Amino acid sequence: MEQKKIRIGLLGVGNVGKGVLQILEQNKALIAERTGKSLVVTHAVVRNIEKVQGRLSPAVMLTTDALAVLRNPDVDVIVEAMGGEYPAFDYICEGLRQGKPVVTANKEVLSKHKATFFALAKEHRTNIYFEASVGGGIPLIRTLKVGLAANKIQAFYGILNGTTNFILTKLEEEGASFETVLKEAQALGFAEADPTMDISGLDSAYKLTILGSVAFKANIQLADVYYEGIATLDAKDMAYAKELGYVIKLLGIGREVAPGQMSFKVHPTMIPARHPLAHVRQEFNAVFIIGNAVGESMLSGRGAGSSPTGSAIVSDLIDIAFDDHPLGNQRNLEALEGPFSVMPLSETTSQFYVRLHALDTHGALAGITSVLGAYRIGISKIMQKNIVADEAEIVLVTHMVQEKEMTSALQDLLGTPGVREIDAKIRVGLDEG
Ligand code: HSE
Repeated sequence: MEQKKIRIGLLGVGNVGKGVLQILEQNKALIAERTGKSLVVTHAVVRNIEKVQGRLSPAVMLTTDALAVLRNPDVDVIVEAMGGEYPAFDYICEGLRQGKPVVTANKEVLSKHKATFFALAKEHRTNIYFEASVGGGIPLIRTLKVGLAANKIQAFYGILNGTTNFILTKLEEEGASFETVLKEAQALGFAEADPTMDISGLDSAYKLTILGSVAFKANIQLADVYYEGIATLDAKDMAYAKELGYVIKLLGIGREVAPGQMSFKVHPTMIPARHPLAHVRQEFNAVFIIGNAVGESMLSGRGAGSSPTGSAIVSDLIDIAFDDHPLGNQRNLEALEGPFSVMPLSETTSQFYVRLHALDTHGALAGITSVLGAYRIGISKIMQKNIVADEAEIVLVTHMVQEKEMTSALQDLLGTPGVREIDAKIRVGLDEG
């Protein structure tokens, strides 16, 4: 049976648009299986056809005429991936007027015009989806709307801009220069075309109005937000912050400060180094949410870039695919039919921390390293601790090694002259090898 097609008109084939196309292609089978439909970009609107020609599937019709695509009855859904306020505003309005669901990643246009879009969507019995507009690939909007629907949100604290978090991380950890790091962020595709939007805090402020509107069910506008960026931060203050046990992050904060009274701010903030937000590094974003039922909760992930943003857009498209699904209420009812096998523990690899004690005599360490060497187990760190009487405690961390190799090596170690006991074996790291 031929699957029902959802025909997508894609406005813009830049960084974000390419991410969408790539995910739709790469996960085609998985998406079709999950939704019972095939999601296909049939039309792409670009400014310069020659620039993209030959790079997209020939099945995608390339055009510069956005209105023709928006009004084409053979296009079911619009994805706006152009960015900027105009003409994106006009195109989103037209898509909604045509009764088509619109998916957008555009924080600026949403921040400024969300009330108009929501009203138009209602009037034309359709919807606007914007998971990608805040926090890139992190499912923030859906989490606030659905996962935390039982809560009154009291506050949220967000690292909402990948570029500035990338810059702050590099300044803090590597003492790199502001200009060099900014260039790196631009090359990696995180920064806005005009990076002052990132640096000044404006990008975070736009995102704060969107998140705030969803969290507090109100039309938060840019004028309601105080914002300040990272340009005036001095390397000295970052160093002193570190010494005092803080990390500096650019936070977007939305908070009910008194009943019915809100506060919306974006500014560099010193966070205790132990707070979960302090550990959010590079271009990662995170939002720490306080709900009156759930308490504290944090979501973190890649906040910028082609693939994470594409991931959020495609998740919206999948949501749309379910809208007229006869079993739409069963969208999350897993089939549990996927084939899989479990790798035996002995085959898995990890780094290992090993603590043992041995006679504090010449040749003992050589014996230990030669056993590990025979199993081709590399040592990443080694130290000798606590010499008591004639015994020394030896602590080492290996490079990646298979469990079965490690088990055999430890058995051999127990038989090595001088080795008294293996006292501890702990796997190190997240098993990424
Ligand atoms: N310039 C933005 C950032 C892109 O760095 O977070 C994602 O909105």
